Amino acid sequence: MRCWLFFNRDLGPNVPEAHEVFRFQEAAKALDIELHVLKPSEFDLVVDSLGGWSAIYQGRELRKPDLIIPRTGSETSYFTLAVLRHFERQGVAIVNPPAAIEAVADKLHTLQVLAGAGLPIPKTILGKFPVDVGLVEREIGFPVVVKKLRGTRGAGVMLCENRAQFDDLANLLDGAAQGQDFLFQQYIKASHGRDVRVLVVDGKAVAAMERRSTDGGFKSNISLGGAAMPFAPPPAMAELAVKVARELQLDVAGIDILFDKTAYRICEANSSPGFQGLERACDVDVPELVFVAMSRKFGLPLRHSARWERAIDRAAKAVLGPMPRPVNDDAPAMARAPTRRKRKPA
Ligand SMILES: Nc1ncnc2c1ncn2[C@@H]1O[C@H](COP(=O)(O)OP(=O)(O)O)[C@@H](O)[C@H]1O
Ligand SMILES: [Mg+2]
Repeated sequence: MRCWLFFNRDLGPNVPEAHEVFRFQEAAKALDIELHVLKPSEFDLVVDSLGGWSAIYQGRELRKPDLIIPRTGSETSYFTLAVLRHFERQGVAIVNPPAAIEAVADKLHTLQVLAGAGLPIPKTILGKFPVDVGLVEREIGFPVVVKKLRGTRGAGVMLCENRAQFDDLANLLDGAAQGQDFLFQQYIKASHGRDVRVLVVDGKAVAAMERRSTDGGFKSNISLGGAAMPFAPPPAMAELAVKVARELQLDVAGIDILFDKTAYRICEANSSPGFQGLERACDVDVPELVFVAMSRKFGLPLRHSARWERAIDRAAKAVLGPMPRPVNDDAPAMARAPTRRKRKPA
């Protein structure tokens, strides 16, 4: 299998998400996959009606790959989307497809799709300038979560405790944030400082972790110091995550789920989820699962694929295996996953 992985930054130890790229390189080597890490910004796009294969990278023609893995996430620019569409049109399998990446990079678009499918989301208002404080108070109330439309790693998400604070913030935004898009969102109190990340690969929940903030704050992002622990999602949660991925047409997705008093609420979906914390907490090999699932989905050659396919089925079963056990009255059932041994193909 020949594969391209798209990543826009120079690889280095302190570069966010570089770890994931290194892990893909490692897994590709183990599975005998030819993997090239490319910067989408260095392609030249020439679109014509002649047909045939066209890929010009740093001035050279590249051969057609079997699969493209974009790792650009919510920072995917218009240019990168155009590059992805160029190769999608030329018949290359892309995980995830550009339309899905574009939709989930926009948190409101994500919620619009999910609300349309009847799935549970926090009530959310798209900010307008001047900010209508009365509308936010009537529709959502306080505390209220304020988010940038296209944020990541917890930057650009804050909690406004009361009307006075929100008034101040609204004044600040009115003056300083013209041209930026913000969301005002219902604060899911039962989930303060914790949520669950479920990894869905090709329609299966293959791993899950609970994330907890360690500083008392309401954000549980690992990039902000949150702790990760393995988590056995109750079937309803795993099914919800799978539905979210399906509605958003994501073949690989990190679905973040909040605990409400009597139900779950979907926080967001990530098209190229970081998985350093997940691999540590759950003892899974995420790139391996992705390669195997995509080789199966798109009929791509993979050495020993039958053996590795069983590994993905086992991962999905393991994540759903143990029965849920409620830990408090405030939130839906949750349970710890047992420590699992590193899976090896039979
Ligand atoms: N509506 C909400 N209610 C309670 N906590 C929330 C809410 N929205 C986000 N959070 C917390 O903040 C974190 C970051 O928010 P998120 O929308 O996922 O932004 P990012 O894309 O930057 O990770 C979440 O993982 C969750 O812990
Ligand atoms: Mg998040």
